[in-house]
Amino acid sequence: MQSYVQQHKDRFIAELSELLRIPSVSADSQRKGDVRRAAEYIREKLVQAGADRAELCETAGHPIVYGEKTVGPDRPTVLVYGHYDVQPADPLNLWETPPFEPTVRQTKLHPGGAIFARGACDDKGQVFAHIKAFEGLVATGGLSCNVKFMIEGEEEVGSDNLGIFVRENCGKLKADVILISDTSILANDTPSLEVGLRGLSYVEVEVTGPNRDLHSGVYGGGVANPINVLCEMIASLKDQDGRITIPHFYDKVTDLSRTDRDALAEAPFDLASYKEDLQIGDVSGETGYTTPERTSIRPTLDVNGIWGGYTGEGAKTVLPSKAHAKISMRLVPNQHPDEITELFKKHFQTIAPPSVKVVVKPHHGGHPVVTPTDSVGFKAASQAFQEAWGKKPIPTRGGGSIPIVALFEKELGLKSVLMGFGLDSDAIHSPNEHFGIFNYLKGIETIGLFYKHFAALNG
Ligand code: BES
Ligand code: MN
Ligand code: MN
Repeated sequence: MQSYVQQHKDRFIAELSELLRIPSVSADSQRKGDVRRAAEYIREKLVQAGADRAELCETAGHPIVYGEKTVGPDRPTVLVYGHYDVQPADPLNLWETPPFEPTVRQTKLHPGGAIFARGACDDKGQVFAHIKAFEGLVATGGLSCNVKFMIEGEEEVGSDNLGIFVRENCGKLKADVILISDTSILANDTPSLEVGLRGLSYVEVEVTGPNRDLHSGVYGGGVANPINVLCEMIASLKDQDGRITIPHFYDKVTDLSRTDRDALAEAPFDLASYKEDLQIGDVSGETGYTTPERTSIRPTLDVNGIWGGYTGEGAKTVLPSKAHAKISMRLVPNQHPDEITELFKKHFQTIAPPSVKVVVKPHHGGHPVVTPTDSVGFKAASQAFQEAWGKKPIPTRGGGSIPIVALFEKELGLKSVLMGFGLDSDAIHSPNEHFGIFNYLKGIETIGLFYKHFAALNG
C-alpha cells in the first residue's frame, strides 16, 4: 500500500484537486448543479477504483452517493461515511488564493505542503483518502473486507435527508462498523483517535421593539432599542464563571471522573502556541476547566452572528425596530438537543423585558456521542495508526458535531470509528481551509491498514 501511494501520489493530488474545483456548497440553492456534479464525480471515482456498483440515490435535497464492493460473504463489512458538500466560502476577500482553485503551498505545520481550497479537509480530502485507499487495496489485491460507501451532500446543512435514507435502507447498509474520517488529530507527530463528539442546539432569535425604525434623537432614551436589549439578554446568558445561566441547562450533563479527566489530559497541549496561532492575548471559558476540556467535554453557548439596524457606509441615526442573532449551544452527553432548545426558548422569553417581543426559531440540532475504546473497530484503527505513524494514537474527545453518528447508532445499531486526519488549525469553515499533503497520503495508508487489521481481528 505504501509503495502504491508513493507511486500514484501525484495523480491522487490531481484527482482530489479536480473534486475541490467543484463548488458543492450545500447551503446555496444556486449551487444545486455543482453539488450534483461533485456527487457524480465521487460516483465515477468509486467505479474506477473497483466498486461493484455505485449510484446516486435521490433525496428531497442533494443526492447521496452509495457504492459497494463485496469480496466474500464470510468477510466483515465496513461502511464508510463522509460528505462531499462544503461550507460557503465567504468572506471571499480573506482567501489568499480563490477557494475553488486548489493551490499547494507550505505552512509552518505542513512543511511538506498543503492543498488550499474550501472542503480540502472538511471533508472532500478525507473522503477522497478513502476512495484512494480502496483503489489501492483493490489494485494490489489486498482488500480483505466488504466495503460500502455512503457519501452525502447535506452534512453541512443538517443531514435531514440522510436520516430518512438510513431508516429506509437499514438492510442495504448492514455492516460491522462505520468508519468516518471527518475529524482531526492532535498533530502530525501526535496521532489521535476521537472517541466523542459534541451535540448541537441551534436557534435564531428575533427581538422587536417599536413597530418601525425611529429617529434615534427624537425617540432615543425613551423607547427600548432592541439591539441594546438583545445584547443585554445575550450577556446575561453566562455568569462570571463562564457558566450558562439557563435554568436546568446542566441538569443532564455527565461530569467526568477525575480519572477520566486525567486520562484526557495526557494529550499534549501547549497553551502558548495555541494563543500564538490564534493571536489572542488569553483564552477564555468556564472556570475550573482547561482549554482542551472547555472545547470537548463541556457544553458551550456562542453567538454565531448578530445583526440589525444600520451597518452601511457613514452614520445613520436610527433606533431600529428589530434585532437578530444566531446562537449555537454545543452539547455533551447526556444533553438532549430538543430539550435544550426548549429550555433556551423558555428562558429567553422569560428574561425579555416588556418593552420588546421575542421570537425564538429552532434550527437543526444533533445528539452528542461517545464511542467505545474497547471495540474491534477502535482496536483496528489504533493498530492501523500504530503501524503507519509509528505511534499509538491518543484517544481524544472532539468538540465538533457530526449529528448523524448518533442516528447510525440508533437506526443501524452500529458504533462509529472516528478516524480523522485533519488538524484543528486547518481552517475548516474558515477562509484558507487546507489539508496537509502528508495527512492526505498518510491517511490513505492508514485507512488501507484499517481494513487489514479489522479483517484480522474479525478472523
Ligand atoms: N467535520 C465537521 C465536524 C468536526 C470537525 C468534528 C472537527 C470534529 C472535529 C462537520 O463537517 C461539521 O462542521 N459539523 C457541524 C455540524 C452540522 C450540523 C452543521 C459543526 O460541528 O458545526
Ligand atoms: Mn465535516
Ligand atoms: Mn463541516
